Amino acid sequence: MRHEPQSPYYSELGRLSFSPGWARPEPSMWPLPKPKFRPAVWRYAAAKAALDQSGELVPAEQTERRNLIMVNPIEGNTYATTRHLVGAYQCVLPGETARTHRHSAAALRLVLEAKPGTYTVVDGARVDMAPGDVVLTPSWSWHGHVNEANQTGYWIDFLDIPFVQLSEAMFFEQYPAGGLEPIKTYGPSPFRIPSGEALGSGRDAKTVEVAKDIMPTIGMHLMRQPKGGRVNVAKTTTNNLYAVVSGKARFTAEGGMTETLGPGDVIAVPCWHSHSIEAPEDTVVFRVSDEPLLTKLGLVRSAAH
Ligand SMILES: [Fe+2]
Repeated sequence: MRHEPQSPYYSELGRLSFSPGWARPEPSMWPLPKPKFRPAVWRYAAAKAALDQSGELVPAEQTERRNLIMVNPIEGNTYATTRHLVGAYQCVLPGETARTHRHSAAALRLVLEAKPGTYTVVDGARVDMAPGDVVLTPSWSWHGHVNEANQTGYWIDFLDIPFVQLSEAMFFEQYPAGGLEPIKTYGPSPFRIPSGEALGSGRDAKTVEVAKDIMPTIGMHLMRQPKGGRVNVAKTTTNNLYAVVSGKARFTAEGGMTETLGPGDVIAVPCWHSHSIEAPEDTVVFRVSDEPLLTKLGLVRSAAH
């Protein structure tokens, strides 16, 4: 017996919240990854200019929202930069504080510009911020930002919010007192990784993973290349974000994109896009990825697998 799509039979299936597996509008599986996200670039100079003009648009009590989110320009997307991660440029003006809060999403930031007196308070520890630093706030750690310097601090936030939204395990809480958590400890912190120290001296090509195992969802690698260097990255299921820490780096991503990035610029290279990174001058690049997450799930694969 045949049933036409508009037949009472199919209407009844819909009413019962069933979808017939033999007549699905789209397949639920496919032979190879077909990422919806695409390579895209965001420029620090443009973000900085726009943030500098945000002034009165951001109420004083919402300083923590003085940021510009890098929205991957694919249809229907309003937030994520790659499938599991989001990046944003943020600034804190002199004298401002961003109120202490915590969330189940994990976060880190790459500091672009900050003068002494710019710091994050992470679980009661003062973590100073200097250009090139990576500052971590793992899931559910209290954190707030302070700028006691006389110049605006700028950094790039990276968070796993798109993944946490997908999992629906989202929690967020403001610090009970509503302001900034008091500082209890000072000094070196495992949540501050100065990129120069992590890479050590020298100009040779070098890649180091930093803060390994501190945040289960986000992987961080610092990559140094001398002038003339080149790295080829095979097609894998890992979703990558790259930010240039110093120098210039030229990215070529499968699909035809070639872009030269300078300090503070960011490129998203989603899953299943082979790409290369060339160094027209000495450069340090920071790679932020969902590799630890996918590794735990057994989902890291390369085209050569
Ligand atoms: Fe936060």
